[in-house]
Amino acid sequence: MNFAADGANISVVGLGPGDVDYLAPRAKWLIDHCAVLIGSPRQLNCFPAFPGEKRQLDGSLAQLAAWLTEHPELPIVVLASGDPMLYGIGDFLSRQCDPARLSIVPGISAAQYLFSRLALSMNDVFLTSSHGRSPDFDFIFQHAKVAMVTDRKIGPYEIAQQILARGLRRIMIIGENLSYPDERIQRLSPEQVARQYAMNVVVILDER
Ligand SMILES: C[S@@+](CC[C@H](N)C(=O)[O-])C[C@H]1O[C@@H](n2cnc3c(N)ncnc32)[C@H](O)[C@@H]1O
Repeated sequence: MNFAADGANISVVGLGPGDVDYLAPRAKWLIDHCAVLIGSPRQLNCFPAFPGEKRQLDGSLAQLAAWLTEHPELPIVVLASGDPMLYGIGDFLSRQCDPARLSIVPGISAAQYLFSRLALSMNDVFLTSSHGRSPDFDFIFQHAKVAMVTDRKIGPYEIAQQILARGLRRIMIIGENLSYPDERIQRLSPEQVARQYAMNVVVILDER
């Protein structure tokens, strides 16, 4: 295997939903062979034996892009949760970095993992996110099958309130800590949704 295609030195690698058993062999090879591994503390902790330099993502993506630009000589892996191109850092870096230097390695998204656990087709799903944005719920609820990655501000409870405020009939499937030992998947009516959940993906189904 090569570090990256056509001389690219930066690989943005999808980690999958969390359990390293879901890491693709190419992703693992790139992590094992890079000089610098960049990610959140939780992501970096997945690789305790990594011998090279670990750099924590401190939240400033602009600083990361600048640092990457300054180091064209180093084989670098930037870790992304799930799939880098689904509401992930791959989208940002693909717009900030020289495309010749960048290679993106897909991973299993948390939403994809949840649909597999449910044995539910993804063919007709509308994929969206509340992460750091204000979702357009009127538009979202026009779809009969929605999967939403969430953040602490707008999670299952807030989604349930939006459904109830519109008098809609929906089923919500909440997948928490997917692929981890404390994974929990619940199928609830909006009235049953509690205020707090761990890291989650929400599937919203119009089952009329
Ligand atoms: C910035 S988004 C990244 C999504 C990621 N690129 C993907 O493909 O799954 C982060 C959100 O993904 C969801 N997520 C990621 N990993 C998860 C997991 N193991 N269990 C449940 N939700 C997860 C949560 O909604 C979390 O807040």
